Amino acid sequence: MKAFGVDIGGSGIKGAPVDLVRGDLAEERHKLLTPHPAAPAAVVDTVCEVVGHFGHRGPVGITFPGVVVDGHTLTAANVDEGWVGLDATDHFEQALGLPVALLNDADAAGVAEMAFGAGRDRGGVVITLTFGTGIGSALFVDGVLVPNTELGHLELDGHEAEKRASSAAREKHDLSWPKWAERVDAYLAHVEMLFSPQLVIIGGGVSRKADKFLPHLKRRRAEIVPAQLQNNAGIVGAAMAAAKLG
Ligand code: BGC
Repeated sequence: MKAFGVDIGGSGIKGAPVDLVRGDLAEERHKLLTPHPAAPAAVVDTVCEVVGHFGHRGPVGITFPGVVVDGHTLTAANVDEGWVGLDATDHFEQALGLPVALLNDADAAGVAEMAFGAGRDRGGVVITLTFGTGIGSALFVDGVLVPNTELGHLELDGHEAEKRASSAAREKHDLSWPKWAERVDAYLAHVEMLFSPQLVIIGGGVSRKADKFLPHLKRRRAEIVPAQLQNNAGIVGAAMAAAKLG
């Protein structure tokens, strides 16, 4: 069975048909640059281009890097403010002429990891954290998602955690991997204190470079592992949401 997923990220908007049995892309993904400013109309156009590239008809799952409730986008930490309060699902559906399932980007990545990756068959409290332009989070209790947890905005050393410990922060402040790992460590300690997860899955682009920072993280009660679907987790999770539309 196939479904279609699009992942809206800080730097790229990428999409592909997804094989929902294997939990992997069915074709090579198509990626376009995220427009700047990432205002709704420009982003919707780019998503249409990505979907159009495959001539796809049928439901489309789309991730958004902010809170999504009842199809509306409610926050926009790393995108244009025009998204706040928007019935974004309706905008995408009108432009695409297709049914759309919209969900938070980290939630999508987490859902995919739970089904096909590092969280497979794992019960209890599991948290996926994605380190990219911001820090995204997906909280699962016995495999069930608690959506929109937004743990990237927890306070860390008097600042928003994602401003200190995201992948973008590592680049912006030119931090070595061990120095960045120190910040991630402080952040993980805080998350662990609040939620006592059994498993923490580290996703986002950095999951490909796990060997550079995982060895520098302190041992914790929670098991800490890199994501397995890496950069495609968002697309796969989005496609899973689309498949639910029937
Ligand atoms: C947003 C989250 C998002 C994360 C990763 C944060 O700034 O508030 O909704 O999941 O970035 O993109």
